[in-house]
Amino acid sequence: MNKKIEKLLNDQIEKEYSSSQLYLSMASWSENQGFNGTASFLYAHSDEEREHMLKLVKFINERGGKAVIPAIYKPDVSFDSIELIFQAILDHEVKVTESINNIVDACLSEKDYTTHNFIQWYVSEQLEEEALARNIMDKLKLIGKDKGGLYLFDRDMESANIAAGNPN
Ligand code: FEO
Repeated sequence: MNKKIEKLLNDQIEKEYSSSQLYLSMASWSENQGFNGTASFLYAHSDEEREHMLKLVKFINERGGKAVIPAIYKPDVSFDSIELIFQAILDHEVKVTESINNIVDACLSEKDYTTHNFIQWYVSEQLEEEALARNIMDKLKLIGKDKGGLYLFDRDMESANIAAGNPN
């Protein structure tokens, strides 16, 4: 496979893996703070990021390239608030979108239309992930520091997670 594209996809593996580790750490912190709904959402989100990583590993290998499994990334273990967690997720996802867009650009300039087709799934996924993070941030801004509001927010996250078919 095209070496430039292979390198970009391997870099993306690392980004997806780091996202998975970061969200796992956020989930664990939320669980310890008693935000069980938020924790279930974040555990499921961490699993999704690992799936994003796996999809890339398999694609690179199927195309005759070599997927490189990155070293374990150690994220922060504590966070200041639920609002700051979701702000960090939104900022993080915006960067991931930029990185996916760079891959799209490279596919076009290298005329790698197969990878261009494959990466469209990530383009759509990023659109959804950014919209979800923005939506959650809007809710959290309305709630502010109101503890009752945060309690209800956490319960809503739990219901949304169950409705999405994710285990607690
Ligand atoms: Fe797979 Fe949230 O980027």
